[in-house]
Amino acid sequence: MGRQPLVAALAALAALALPAVAVAGSGGFAPPEPASPSAERIADIYWLILAFAGLVLLLVVVPLVLFAVRFRNRGGDRDVEGPQIRGNTNLEVAWTLVPVVILFVVGAFVFYKLPGITDPARAQDGRPVEVTVEGRQFYWRYVYDGGEVAIDRLRLPLGVEAELRLTAPEHDVLHSWWANELTGKRDTIPGQGTTIRIVPTREGAFTVRCGEFCGVQHSAMLGAVEVVPEDEFRRWLDERREQQLAGSPELGEELWTGACAKCHGEDVAGELAPPLQGNPVLRDADALRDVVVTGPGEMPPVGRGWTDGELDALTAYLRENLAGGTGGDGGEDGEGDGG
Ligand code: CUA
Repeated sequence: MGRQPLVAALAALAALALPAVAVAGSGGFAPPEPASPSAERIADIYWLILAFAGLVLLLVVVPLVLFAVRFRNRGGDRDVEGPQIRGNTNLEVAWTLVPVVILFVVGAFVFYKLPGITDPARAQDGRPVEVTVEGRQFYWRYVYDGGEVAIDRLRLPLGVEAELRLTAPEHDVLHSWWANELTGKRDTIPGQGTTIRIVPTREGAFTVRCGEFCGVQHSAMLGAVEVVPEDEFRRWLDERREQQLAGSPELGEELWTGACAKCHGEDVAGELAPPLQGNPVLRDADALRDVVVTGPGEMPPVGRGWTDGELDALTAYLRENLAGGTGGDGGEDGEGDGG
């Protein structure tokens, strides 16, 4: 008899170590430090709900433990009944009204905060930076209103409203754009668009995750929002426009890393998708275009909708870096008919 409670207690303590590790690994119980007014409001809601949840937890668990100890079986007769109590109007009114009040407070607070989360910039003048955000298998494609393209890394100017139009190409699947230091999660829906607005108030790189399971490389849809001073942002945007017009390898590398390498491997040795060493498609601009636009076999049409500048840039990057090829063991039909 004596050993069993001891073993149970030790097992319970050992189990408690697991959530501790999980909490530490996720940065604690707190939401990430907000980098925009929207995220601040989301954090405010989180803390209010956590406070009530903590209160309710204590109200339930503390009496539960006290009663379990106080009224434990002390070896008495199991058939003896306790005193029969019936009805307590005050208690019953209290445990009905208190939850109603709590839910009302939480609901009212959320509705009070909500407008400022979805539309934080109403009071601000000046033109917002407009960006179309495309969720695609398995990368994020950002198109600025001047046509400039960025892959997986969205740059935004500090303190300026950004209007993001979230969508996915018709042929693609649901993804969910989630930069939790800046705003809430929002789905990107094939063929449809929704808009969110954010005003970044802190410089830095903030992680973007895909919050909707979208296929084998769902977890590879990790990107970032890089918030930089406005003049730096403008310089970068000008540079990107030139890179795109010139079909430059810098943009090509971004496309390769974001759209191709996650499956074919950074060194073309093949991971989820076939290896590409020595594949003639890497040298042939027309064949390359055909492959990325149609997506043969199990390959998603990663390049459908790309501008000529992007296709040229990818070709230029591959010619310079990978197409020379070690002539290796890559299949001639490496792209295709996945099995
Ligand atoms: Cu895209 Cu998950």
